[in-house]
Amino acid sequence: MSDGVRSGHQASSEAELIGDLGRCAVELATGAADVVRARTSGEQHISSKTTSTDLVTDTDRATEDWIMAWLARRRPQDALLGEEGPGREGTSGVRWVVDPIDGTVNFVLGIPMYAVSIAAESGGRVVAAAVANPVTGELFRATLGGGAYAGGGGFGAGRRLTGPRDVPLARAVIGTGFGYDPDRRARQAAVTAALLPRIADIRRLGSAALDICAVAAGRLDGYFEVGLNPWDHAAAVLIAREAGALAVGPNGHEPDTALAVVGGPQLMPELTAALDELGIAQVL
Ligand code: IPD
Ligand code: CA
Repeated sequence: MSDGVRSGHQASSEAELIGDLGRCAVELATGAADVVRARTSGEQHISSKTTSTDLVTDTDRATEDWIMAWLARRRPQDALLGEEGPGREGTSGVRWVVDPIDGTVNFVLGIPMYAVSIAAESGGRVVAAAVANPVTGELFRATLGGGAYAGGGGFGAGRRLTGPRDVPLARAVIGTGFGYDPDRRARQAAVTAALLPRIADIRRLGSAALDICAVAAGRLDGYFEVGLNPWDHAAAVLIAREAGALAVGPNGHEPDTALAVVGGPQLMPELTAALDELGIAQVL
């Protein structure tokens, strides 16, 4: 077989894998959202994790168990990293990064801004993603190179997402979030307070995954947060990028726990420069 033929096969099998993972991500996100929805009216057992304000419910755990069981059945060779469970090693080169409920505090309070977040990595990069809001039924999804979509019935259907408006920082509505550690939260609040006079307004919606999808959908102009975990941002960052937004971490590298900034290509230089000037690198 010639090199050209072989690389053609490799490309088509990679495209097939990404397509499969995209369909699985949608099935997982919508199935897990059904699990969450079915349990919303019941009594929740609530406990705390890293601090007294970092909550977890038995619905978070049951939903992650459902995701784990689905993967054990359908993709038993894949690895799993989840917010609530022990995860699993794999042998296939695919790893699922999942948050059964992103926005647990909103879930506990009945604020309809929380989501199941599902990302599939292949060879270490996220190639497929789905984020589902169990209350509104809204589904955001993307595959690497395949665009980002919201709503609609089957995979590939729905409204194509094209990212945020082109506005200067002074007119931008920016989303952000705060962690659970009180000292870090004070530093986050100081940066946010100093940014506020330079922008149109700030939003703290309570789910990093939905915040970043909101940038993809043009509902927020930009977003930044310090202290996220991979399961909070992995899926939504692919969705935002496939919608045409940029997403960066510290010094323009990949988003990570130290920093995630998301916004349109025109806004990003101004937003990242302002955050640098305000000392975002010292917040973590
Ligand atoms: C939290 C939410 C919140 C963000 C926090 C996250 P959780 O995730 O995404 O918006 O500000 O940093 O930890 O705890 O609800 O899964
Ligand atoms: Ca989360």
